Amino acid sequence: MKLLLLCLGLTLVCAQEGTSDVVRSNFDIPKIAGEWYSILLASDHREKIEENGSMRVFVEHIDVLENSSLSFKFHTKVNGVCTELPLVSDSTGEDGIYTISYDGNNKFRILQVNYSRHIIFYLENFSDSYQLLELYAREPDTSPELKNEFVEICQKYGIVKENIIDLTRVDRCFQARGNGVA
Ligand SMILES: *[C@@H]1O[C@H](CO)[C@@H](O)[C@H](O)[C@H]1NC(C)=O
Ligand SMILES: *[C@@H]1O[C@H](CO)[C@@H](O)[C@H](O)[C@H]1NC(C)=O
Ligand SMILES: *[C@@H]1O[C@H](CO)[C@@H](O)[C@H](O)[C@H]1NC(C)=O
Ligand SMILES: *[C@@H]1O[C@H](CO)[C@@H](O)[C@H](O)[C@H]1NC(C)=O
Repeated sequence: MKLLLLCLGLTLVCAQEGTSDVVRSNFDIPKIAGEWYSILLASDHREKIEENGSMRVFVEHIDVLENSSLSFKFHTKVNGVCTELPLVSDSTGEDGIYTISYDGNNKFRILQVNYSRHIIFYLENFSDSYQLLELYAREPDTSPELKNEFVEICQKYGIVKENIIDLTRVDRCFQARGNGVA
């Protein structure tokens, strides 16, 4: 009886492990459009995401263009001043995979998404072979569970916890956002 209960308990734990309500393939891209907030940022080249690093960017909005490209509106700090950074990434034709020319030629893909809640991107700079993972949410902050899951995903890609930055603790240029969220 005890064993049976243990098994049942484990099954429930496994089924609930944050993975049941996310999409990992066959993405419905129009549904990723709209407002987003950068939550966590990770890289095996930490300087890329540190203060003044090229990849320390804060998302505001994603639009899906007619040619299937994605238009991102980011903000970044240039000499301490929030500056708008619009970027277009082109579809490769593969499910959830895009190219983006910014600080070199990069390719990124969607690892998982819950369209109403969060999205995780994985980006690689092939020539330079650094990796970047990003967690965006529809709200300015998200649950510790989701943050922990992101940390685990990063570890699978060999990115240690020390190289994961919680952007909810820094100035994400909210005052520069279109909707004026302070
Ligand atoms: C997104 O997450 C919410 C809250 O956890 C959940 O209720 C919903 O079913 C999820 N939606 C999808 C499409 O996975
Ligand atoms: C798609 O359209 C955008 C906006 O006009 C443009 O910047 C981008 O280069 C186009 N991409 C392709 C692959 O045609
Ligand atoms: C980032 O740049 C600003 C402005 O140039 C400078 O004051 C600041 O010390 C830099 N921060 C780091 C961590 O290098
Ligand atoms: C990323 O790759 C490009 C080549 O596509 C390279 O020129 C660039 O230096 C790399 N980015 C950085 C900042 O190392």
